[in-house]
Amino acid sequence: MNPTKPATDLSSESASKTTRDTLSITDNRTGQQIEIPIKHDTIRAIDLRPIKVKPDDFGLMGYDPAFTNTASCQSKITYIDGDKGILRYRGYSIEELAEKSTYIETAYLLLHGELPTKSQLADWSYHVTHHTFIHESIKKFIDGFHYDAHPMGMMISTVAALSAFYPDSKDIFNPESRRKQTYRLIGKMPTLAAFAYRHSLGMPFVYPDNDLSYCGNFLNMLFRTTEAKYRPNPTLERALDILFILHADHEQNCSSTAMRLVGSSHVDPYCATAAATAALYGPLHGGANEAVLRMLVEIGSIQNVPAYIKSVKAGEKLLMGFGHRVYKNYDPRARIVKNIAYEVFDVMGINPLIEIALECERIALEDEYFVKRKLYPNVDFYTGLIYQSMGFPMTMFPVLFAIPRTSGWIAQWEEMLLDPEQKISRPRQVYLGSDLRGYIPLDNRK
Ligand code: ACO
Repeated sequence: MNPTKPATDLSSESASKTTRDTLSITDNRTGQQIEIPIKHDTIRAIDLRPIKVKPDDFGLMGYDPAFTNTASCQSKITYIDGDKGILRYRGYSIEELAEKSTYIETAYLLLHGELPTKSQLADWSYHVTHHTFIHESIKKFIDGFHYDAHPMGMMISTVAALSAFYPDSKDIFNPESRRKQTYRLIGKMPTLAAFAYRHSLGMPFVYPDNDLSYCGNFLNMLFRTTEAKYRPNPTLERALDILFILHADHEQNCSSTAMRLVGSSHVDPYCATAAATAALYGPLHGGANEAVLRMLVEIGSIQNVPAYIKSVKAGEKLLMGFGHRVYKNYDPRARIVKNIAYEVFDVMGINPLIEIALECERIALEDEYFVKRKLYPNVDFYTGLIYQSMGFPMTMFPVLFAIPRTSGWIAQWEEMLLDPEQKISRPRQVYLGSDLRGYIPLDNRK
């Protein structure tokens, strides 16, 4: 997109009183006035650059640590209204997709912009399914990790290692190549995750079963033991599929931003996905589901909840799984997850930690500290309870986030690559360090 109008210096003109889509700025240091275009409720930061005190000044910049009020791209993938608690992929509400779609169809939607026809879905499913196997050398690579290696560490490394196995992936401006890497990434992430899990248990790897659904096959690779044919429990298979739909994309979050930023250097998509996976690993992002479970275990019983909340309000701890940069209302995904939890408990038995979680939520939603700051449960508050009931160890929780988010990352990466306005990402800084000074020889330093 080009600016609707170039920045105009108005110092010598009187500002017009007619309504127009512009912003008039007066620099009180100089009296300089300029008018800059507003489009989509946004001004372009570069339009501030002509604002200077001296002609050789660099010009005015925006300062926005953590990008709290800066749009870094235009996107047509995911829409969020954080105040109203709305989340849509390509215009479809998350509630409707969770009810009616499958993860594999949703991944197609995110990547292609439209829901697939029957034949498109069959073709897409076939190709993803037929890219689930990994090179035998990757197995050896996984075998090199200690038994207690965190599976996210294994995921980050093995996804990056795929770059070395598929040198054709460097051809990022070739749509055919991008399509192939997309099949490979979406197809292989569950295999890498399952192999990391089996390695940590010292159990033999289970190869993909192409007769099963995406999630059914994942459960097969994780949990199959001596059965000739693994048959996933349909409730658990569907629950996982819905959780994958909910986690597929979330616009410009930390990991998608990492994907775009690293991808903007034109590195291959495996390296960019490894960077995104690393970003997701942190406890403030996709690692929060693991952190929530650790917190619930630490709280230990309902009686201890008030004391924990007190320490949160004293600034000593965070109530993990609460709060969100964008949602200042109940995260719409958290509502859906809460319902799935009970469906899983019906099959696997109740997770006793749910009582502690519900009590945390009850107290927090009534407490002024949380109400004033608009802190509500986010998607991660209940997912850990479900994963634990399904038999996953806590360390696997962030991995269960990374698998479905891969489709969102690739959609964001491809949109960035094809956007003529995007270039290598390179923020500015406000330098506040020392001015030029002379080098002091070691013997003269105090
Ligand atoms: N517990 C207690 N207080 C909190 C929490 C929390 N979980 N989250 C925010 N606050 C407080 C902050 O201390 C701050 O208080 P102050 O105004 O008195 O300083 C205020 O609420 C605003 O919080 P910020 O940290 O400015 O909000 P920000 O948008 O930067 O952070 C974040 C969002 C990182 C998600 C934060 O809410 C958090 O740390 N939550 C816990 C971790 C978590 O659940 N992460 C998962 C996010 S969802 C996802 O990535 C899938």
